[in-house]
Amino acid sequence: MDLHSVLDWLQHTGWAVGLKQSDFMFPLVEGSHILSLSFSVGMVMILDMRLLRISFRSQRVSLMMQQLMPWTLTGFGVMMVTGLLLFAAQAVKVYGNTFFRIKVILMVLAGLNALYYQLKYYPKMAEWEQGSTPVGARIIAVLSLVFWFGVIACGRTMAYEL
Ligand code: HEM
Repeated sequence: MDLHSVLDWLQHTGWAVGLKQSDFMFPLVEGSHILSLSFSVGMVMILDMRLLRISFRSQRVSLMMQQLMPWTLTGFGVMMVTGLLLFAAQAVKVYGNTFFRIKVILMVLAGLNALYYQLKYYPKMAEWEQGSTPVGARIIAVLSLVFWFGVIACGRTMAYEL
């Protein structure tokens, strides 16, 4: 069974057809997908702006991370689940959409960028968080803002083409 057949089977499962045709469920899932943006990407952007010392300068980065992380992770969880449901509802079309593919690549890059921060800068945050942010961590913050802006722009653009 090739990938196209799997995607075709997926979008023809009873629940995927039901979701696609429902005047209530599809907007609910899509609305949740968009709303969870503020809890996921929104919180990440607040942290990025703190790292760049644009806002919340007097707040400790570690404390902000500790308080925002549960919201961020919950937001990403909802984003992924609703995203996968939206994907399943029109799998063949979405998979073939160029902006969807760029969006996925940018999401992976944003994830690797965050992972690099966690490995390199997170463990030693106590040494620098009261003063200026290391250049490397600033670059990570700028890249994060660029990647997430790209993910959102691609998400919006792909929706026009489905
Ligand atoms: C944090 C990660 C994500 C962000 C920031 C994001 C953002 C967006 C945005 C802004 C839209 C446009 C909604 C509209 O204008 O109507 C969208 C739509 C969509 N997203 Fe995501 N998304 C994310 C993750 C995912 C994932 C993981 C998937 C699936 C694997 C996915 C699948 C979709 C689909 C299929 C649509 C189009 C729905 C439609 O209008 O038919 N998204 N996304």
